[in-house]
Amino acid sequence: MRTTISTIALTALLVELAVAAPTYSGHTDRIPYTAKDDYYISLGPRPYYIIQNMTDGPLKQKLESCENGPFGITTWSIGHRGGGTLMIPEESVESTMAGARMGAGILECDTALTSDLGLVCRHSICDLHTTTDILLRPELAAKCHTPFSPANATHAATALCCTTDITKDEFMSLCSKMDGSNSSATTPAAYQHGVPFFRTELYDTCAQPMSLDSYIDLVDSLPGYRNFTPELKTPPSQVPMPFKGYTQAQYARDFMQTFINHGIDPSRVWPQSFTPADVYLWLNEYPAFGKQAVFLDEDGDDPANWTTAVNRLPALKASGVNIISPPINYLLAVAADNKTIVPSDYAITAKNAGLDIIAWSFERSGPLTRVKADDDYYYTSIADAVHYDGQLYEVLDIMGRDIGIKGMFADWSATVTYYANCMDLKGPGNN
Ligand SMILES: *[C@@H]1O[C@H](CO)[C@@H](O)[C@H](O)[C@H]1NC(C)=O
Ligand SMILES: *[C@@H]1O[C@H](CO)[C@@H](O)[C@H](O)[C@H]1NC(C)=O
Ligand SMILES: *[C@@H]1O[C@H](CO)[C@@H](O)[C@H](O)[C@H]1NC(C)=O
Ligand SMILES: *[C@@H]1O[C@H](CO)[C@@H](O)[C@H](O)[C@H]1NC(C)=O
Ligand SMILES: *[C@@H]1O[C@H](CO)[C@@H](O)[C@H](O)[C@H]1NC(C)=O
Repeated sequence: MRTTISTIALTALLVELAVAAPTYSGHTDRIPYTAKDDYYISLGPRPYYIIQNMTDGPLKQKLESCENGPFGITTWSIGHRGGGTLMIPEESVESTMAGARMGAGILECDTALTSDLGLVCRHSICDLHTTTDILLRPELAAKCHTPFSPANATHAATALCCTTDITKDEFMSLCSKMDGSNSSATTPAAYQHGVPFFRTELYDTCAQPMSLDSYIDLVDSLPGYRNFTPELKTPPSQVPMPFKGYTQAQYARDFMQTFINHGIDPSRVWPQSFTPADVYLWLNEYPAFGKQAVFLDEDGDDPANWTTAVNRLPALKASGVNIISPPINYLLAVAADNKTIVPSDYAITAKNAGLDIIAWSFERSGPLTRVKADDDYYYTSIADAVHYDGQLYEVLDIMGRDIGIKGMFADWSATVTYYANCMDLKGPGNN
């Protein structure tokens, strides 16, 4: 009898599971279809690991009080190069899906151009030799700006492959991989490795690259309220503009026009550029997009240029820029005690000028125990005060609540999503 009852119960359970189970759209596009009500935000263990390592105090208590959620999608959490980039190849379908699953409300596509003027997602126009398997595709490797040259007794291995070396279709046929290379390699196969120790090759299983079109379709198809932050990449010296007669201005227009062609409301798009002319073109020609343009700033990298970078912030606001986007190290400073982390003069000046701030990029640095020894870029201004991973949330809280930034890019979206949910912070667009 027992057997019969459990069999009936099991059958009932299976029927229930069959009804509740989401349906998948097959293997062709690798994008599972999921009904909104069935889609759960999943943060994994990392936020809890960070909180556990915090020094006791009100911030730790507050973050502990949120341990059981609820956690939802938030635009304060911006998926950097997708949002799963710490572990999953950047600028890929898989990294974007991971950032989305970890609650990022805005997802990034760095936009590069191909030889046939297609627009594709890649962090640097000339990084294909380290972020894809192009060197293992002889017919495409032959088209590289600088083909692979093996290491020898006097020279490191070299290669330089640009999106402009190949067509959009050729680009879409590549596998995305973790960014890294081995300068001691004597073969293209050996050159594929060399990922920083705190990242992993676990998901280097041919991640799917994206075009700007396929990225827009993917993000638009994700359950929940998802938004776009495309960055128009500034071509490096190896790709002088105009490229085959194609100007930077036309590139900036085609980039914006792609969103218009897909019928995406401008309120869902935060276009970014390091090139001021791109931002002013959008402000002038696409004002609905331009008012949300993100002016990326790295002009204070040289200490000699710091004061100039700070002092021009009010002029940027006056010229129509609404959002400034510096690296984390621009926003933070160490107080006279050499221990307390405080908002920098840059952060204070930007706030006083009425600029919104979006910062980059959290979770790019590996263990905080090593940032000083490794001279990590994102912590340069506060390296003396940063020693252990629990400080990730102290640093984020200074930016989040003391400075009041509007959003944070992250290579692992869960860390930022947890914090933003717990503090009930509203991202750009106020959701
Ligand atoms: C945090 O981790 C560091 C090692 O990185 C350790 O020395 C410290 O005791 C930890 N703090 C807490 C509160 O667990
Ligand atoms: C080592 O590599 C460099 C750069 O590829 C090349 O110019 C040089 O001739 C090589 N040296 C030897 C001994 O092969
Ligand atoms: C880099 O390549 C050299 C030469 O092939 C090899 O000895 C070394 O183990 C490689 N390192 C990594 C991290 O793959
Ligand atoms: C500093 O500013 C000067 C003048 O604008 C510029 O030529 C130089 O390239 C800047 N340095 C850096 C590292 O950006
Ligand atoms: C802080 O660091 C600076 C530079 O290393 C040093 O000159 C100063 O004495 C330190 N201040 C304190 C309070 O330790």
